[in-house]
Amino acid sequence: MSSKSEDLVNEAKRKAAFEAIDAQVTSESKVIGIGSGSTVVFCVERLAHRVKTENLSIKACIPTSFQARQLIVEAGLPLAELNAHPTIDVAFDGADECDAELNCIKGGGACQLQEKLVASCATKFVIVADYRKDSKVLGTQWKQGVPLEVVPMAYVPILAKLKALGGKPTLRMAVRKAGPVVTDNGNFVIDADFGQISDPVALEKKLIAIPGIVETGLFCHMAKYAYFGLENGEVKHLK
Ligand code: 5RP
Repeated sequence: MSSKSEDLVNEAKRKAAFEAIDAQVTSESKVIGIGSGSTVVFCVERLAHRVKTENLSIKACIPTSFQARQLIVEAGLPLAELNAHPTIDVAFDGADECDAELNCIKGGGACQLQEKLVASCATKFVIVADYRKDSKVLGTQWKQGVPLEVVPMAYVPILAKLKALGGKPTLRMAVRKAGPVVTDNGNFVIDADFGQISDPVALEKKLIAIPGIVETGLFCHMAKYAYFGLENGEVKHLK
């Protein structure tokens, strides 16, 4: 990506994140879920700014990854565990692709298990993304396949089962292929390409039924709102 288009994408992420935080965090928001990835960095920046400049009394921020944990700590926000706050008022997260029904592919950063746990405990789950993630049919924009967190001892049979389902699965390797990517939970990630996904709910059901797949990156009917930063500087809202 050229530095000009990188600037455009970053600006789109920033605009979407600021608008989402401003619209969705109110004085009633006490427990906030913090997703993972580059877009969420702007959410945390805006949230920390609002906490400093307004009388917002946030009780806890629940992270979805080591990265999110660091963001919360560095921003001076109150870090807490999901087990201590099992009901989250509002959670913000990025997406690799999101359709008009707010079904998403997530896990580009290998955090989908903790992201889904946090999203599943949130009264409001809000997607924040740039225009490249806005899609009609999942699998159109994000070509790397559905990220699946898998138990390491079974990745070979899982690869075979995914092929039998019609997918093209690959074990995600670390930079310079030094070894497999290992998640915050000690598992591996398989990216399974199923082309365009016309029925994400049905595909998710088949994937999660495979023993050893701990979680899938298909987030179906979980998000209540999505904010996409556009190339023209505006923000598109869904729901
Ligand atoms: C990590 C994720 C991220 O939210 C997703 O990859 C989007 O990241 P970014 O905001 O950097 O585009 O699901 O597992």
